[in-house]
Amino acid sequence: MQNAPAKIILFGEHAVVYGQPAIAVPFGTLTATATAVPAPPGAGLTILARDLHAVLHVHSGSETLDNALTYAAQLTLARAGAAPPDLTLEVGSTIPIGSGFGSGAAISAALIRELAAALGARFDNETVNGLVYEVEKLYHGTPSGIDNTVVVYNMPVYFVRGQAPELFGVGRPLTFVIANSGVSASTKESVGDVRKLYEAQPDQIGPILEQIGALVRSARAAIQSGDLPTIGRLMDEDHELLRQLTVSSPLLDDLCAAAREAGALGAKLSGGGRGGNVIALAEPSAAYRVSSAFRAAGAAHLWTMTLEAR
Ligand code: PMV
Repeated sequence: MQNAPAKIILFGEHAVVYGQPAIAVPFGTLTATATAVPAPPGAGLTILARDLHAVLHVHSGSETLDNALTYAAQLTLARAGAAPPDLTLEVGSTIPIGSGFGSGAAISAALIRELAAALGARFDNETVNGLVYEVEKLYHGTPSGIDNTVVVYNMPVYFVRGQAPELFGVGRPLTFVIANSGVSASTKESVGDVRKLYEAQPDQIGPILEQIGALVRSARAAIQSGDLPTIGRLMDEDHELLRQLTVSSPLLDDLCAAAREAGALGAKLSGGGRGGNVIALAEPSAAYRVSSAFRAAGAAHLWTMTLEAR
């Protein structure tokens, strides 16, 4: 069995599409898994996704561009130079879909690794990352690559589009409360809207993207030195800049305000925005209060995550 974690973006979403840095971390409480089960001779390759009520037969040759699971399997077969084996790949996931947790990337990563292993092919992380990125493009148009990178390498990364991911130190443990708004929103759409805005008003939007980049560089230093108040302040600032990019919503703003009032050191939306998740940084002693405030402000699901010092 292979698994891959969910991911959370801490800083820099949207600006990362324009070459600015971003910081994201794995969220291992939620995972996607893939398990290969031998099938009778002649059965061919089938993907069984119980959560999606889907049974997919995979043929090599022409690529199926309308299904990410089938496409991921076809890319894996092509890379391994193999014909479809007699195998059932069972995929499952505890990661909510369309919520900014990178569920698609995690499922692709688990599936590609499990199929490659069943074929006896050795794929390193770079190879898996490249294939997952190809699958991501199906649904996200022009993704920056941050989702697949965090999910495949399973480590906190400082990410710049087109560059090798950089690891960074964490000076003190960081406790985050994560709230899902219960609203599922399309990242492709919010990324497209920011693009239109940028093209219509480059002189206003360009500097906002640069401010986000500068803030991410400061956040990296603050995470390294364990300066919690600064990390929190930068989260608030990043949220405000994302709001100016039109990717927040009244609900996300309310959730962040409620967390701050309950004692969070900072709060912001995470991911594509308009729905999906918000995250708050809290002292461990305040995490429960922040979590309750999120719930009272309308959060649908809540999690607490600690990023350990290292
Ligand atoms: O909605 P998510 O969590 O998949 O995050 C998207 C992050 C963006 O920066 C908005 C887009 C991208 O491709 O990086």
